[in-house]
Amino acid sequence: MLHDTFQRPLRNLRLSVTDRCNLRCQYCMPEAEYTWLPKQDVLTFEEIARLTGIFVGLGVDKLRLTGGEPLLRTNLASLIETLSHLAVRDLAMTTNGILLTAHAAALKAAGLKRVTVSLDTLQRDRFVRLTRQDELTRTLAGIDTAARDFPGFKIDTVVMRGVNDDEIVDLMGFARDRGAEIRFIEYMDVGGATGWTAQQVVSRAELLERIASAFGPIAPAEKEAAAPADRFRLDDGTPFGIIASTTAPFCRDCDRARLTADGMLYLCLYATRGLDLRAPLRNDASDDQLRALITATWQARTDRGAEARLDVPDRRPLIPVSTLKRDPHLEMHTRGG
Ligand code: GTP
Ligand code: 5AD
Ligand code: SF4
Repeated sequence: MLHDTFQRPLRNLRLSVTDRCNLRCQYCMPEAEYTWLPKQDVLTFEEIARLTGIFVGLGVDKLRLTGGEPLLRTNLASLIETLSHLAVRDLAMTTNGILLTAHAAALKAAGLKRVTVSLDTLQRDRFVRLTRQDELTRTLAGIDTAARDFPGFKIDTVVMRGVNDDEIVDLMGFARDRGAEIRFIEYMDVGGATGWTAQQVVSRAELLERIASAFGPIAPAEKEAAAPADRFRLDDGTPFGIIASTTAPFCRDCDRARLTADGMLYLCLYATRGLDLRAPLRNDASDDQLRALITATWQARTDRGAEARLDVPDRRPLIPVSTLKRDPHLEMHTRGG
């Protein structure tokens, strides 16, 4: 097992399979225009599978497909089928749900174990304002499909003050009715969140207070080691989570690496530099050479991006728009959330 400079193991790999998205969520893609990864740079499924196999050989046992929106990638199920033969204990996907109804059966048959669907509002007008697309109906259909095909699925909700924080109670009830575990996520000042302000962050403490005043006593629930979410239960047993990335970051346990669609390896959501794996991959590097590169990079890892942000006085969005335009790798939607 590989460890970094803080003795954190490399266990969890997030594979962003595309930087494209069919929504424009305010906290992730608020700009009018984006610089996309060049098509010819995007890894083929064979290339993704080869790299992933190397990571698994180094100790990764949790895989999550992300995007952009992963279901925009044609025939994603065939990649999942290939990945499902690797020795991993978890194979999951984070999606906005729009295309889930069309693909769920094939994904499940291919070996996908879990899905998480992003949902920030139950109100149509607000959904349109928040995502710039009139897609609430298909998103909710996708969630019904998830409830049927992936029981125990999760819902991710980014809470923004003055935008959707009045829906915490409705969203909790909605998730409970569908057997989903909802996780309320603090708004993060990651690259791409160009409209971020501290005032819009609703902290874990405030979320818990508001949930308790609506639903009564909250009990802590068991937490998976190194998972970003703190888990809780309502009095009736309903589980939910809070991801306090902004006010109470969990960098000390972070076992995650991210591979972008064009084969850049990032060791942190906040990292400004990555390791190019595409170039060696396409220049006939052997598995041993790729393994050595990844090993050296992880062993030198010092990242604690979210914790470091706590020390920044007068926090502003991490990266200016002009810089994002020059290097789309700095965007959350390229990093895979
Ligand atoms: P499971 O616990 O395995 O279900 O997955 P997960 O919670 O890791 O995956 P998901 O894609 O649902 O991630 C939830 C959210 O947590 C992300 O969208 C981010 O907002 C946040 N998050 C995930 N990874 C990191 C990370 O490395 N650092 C920080 N600060 N936040 C993260
Ligand atoms: N703050 C918090 N979470 C974010 N995500 C994207 N941008 C942000 C942000 N600025 C997460 C959300 C979304 C997933 C794909 O990425 O959880 O559902
Ligand atoms: Fe929204 Fe996810 Fe698309 Fe970002 S990648 S705009 S969070 S659906």
